[in-house]
Amino acid sequence: MHEFPDALAVVRALSPDEPITLLRPHAAQRAARFFSEKFPGKSLYAVKANPSPQLLQLLWDSGITHFDVASLGEVRLVHKFLPDATLCFMHPVKSERAIAQAYHNHGVRVFSLDSHEELDKIVRATGGAADLELCVRIRVSSDHAKLSLAAKFGAEPSDVASLLAATRQVADSLGICFHVGSQAMSPQAYSDAMDLVRAAIVEASVVVDIVDVGGGFPSVYPGMEPPVLESYFDVIEHCFEDLPISYSAELWCEPGRALCAEYASLLVKVEKRRGKELYVNDGAYGALFDAAHIGWRFPVIALNPETNINVRMTEFSFYGPTCDDMDFMPGPFILPDDMGAGDYIEIGMLGAYGCAMRTEFNGFGDVDTVTVGDEPMASLYTQIAANDIGEKKNSANRSKQ
Ligand SMILES: Cc1ncc(COP(=O)(O)O)c(C=O)c1O
Repeated sequence: MHEFPDALAVVRALSPDEPITLLRPHAAQRAARFFSEKFPGKSLYAVKANPSPQLLQLLWDSGITHFDVASLGEVRLVHKFLPDATLCFMHPVKSERAIAQAYHNHGVRVFSLDSHEELDKIVRATGGAADLELCVRIRVSSDHAKLSLAAKFGAEPSDVASLLAATRQVADSLGICFHVGSQAMSPQAYSDAMDLVRAAIVEASVVVDIVDVGGGFPSVYPGMEPPVLESYFDVIEHCFEDLPISYSAELWCEPGRALCAEYASLLVKVEKRRGKELYVNDGAYGALFDAAHIGWRFPVIALNPETNINVRMTEFSFYGPTCDDMDFMPGPFILPDDMGAGDYIEIGMLGAYGCAMRTEFNGFGDVDTVTVGDEPMASLYTQIAANDIGEKKNSANRSKQ
């Protein structure tokens, strides 16, 4: 794969007519190291956020050994590229065939569930296996998150105690898991959810071996600047220590977005301008699904080699390349007022739920990938990295004295 210093160098070298995905392996490595070193438990990467084999390998090399998979396709993918990884099948509604294959062919032992029906399926599909680690997913609020995950999954409070008791009967390890919604903007999301975990354990009177706080850890986007990740970890650790669970119980989390948002950005070309609308060559059916369908704002930078720095900035919206009216990203995306056909734009923070959602609808979707060495447009980690590097340099200097 080609390597360039930054997106502008890609434009200068290639003047590409098709969109290009720009990868920043160092950003994914930094995020993975951060979680493996600072989260007070085990971090499972939620593969759905970005299943690229290259990213899986980077995360593995940086200390992520557990993977949250949600389909047989993801089970096969991770097992193929990382045969020694521990796979956790955390989709609460699975086919019996998928459970059986995961268990018998791919060594999966961890499964989530949110109903008695699913528990029965797991028991049948695994032939009543004695080595199951089963996590009961409870429903918690998504009030602090930008994207709700409160409607579809999660046992109702009235069912939780009986489901925990029944699962305890067949599980070697019993867990409780939840998801506070994606892009949780406050650590309170986790403390509120942990209150429900506590209530469930007390009501069911069962021994719980695993508490899995799910995903939801945020990244940085325009208009969404979350508190530092350590504040989330502190709240979670404090709540975990307060739970009525055994000393040997494990704490898990399942970050998707936070591990890979900074990993990729996208280089697009403007094909046409109509007023404040720019027609660009990627869109809702490409890497910009969230920008179109939930109005997510991603950071943008104009990449004209001869940018006039005196031009004022304007709010633009984007149309994507397909013939569909829905291929529209409202933004606003703030760019120089003189943008027009032939100009290039870098759209940042698309490593999570961006590249992974690309389709080939309408004949588009053929996208090249290059590596760039500069920093992502925003980061939750650079400050930390700078401090860590500073600390290392200081101690190296001290040892020389
Ligand atoms: C079960 C489960 N775990 C983890 C995640 C990852 O969430 P996030 O990307 O918000 O960290 C998801 C996302 O949908 C999920 O469904």
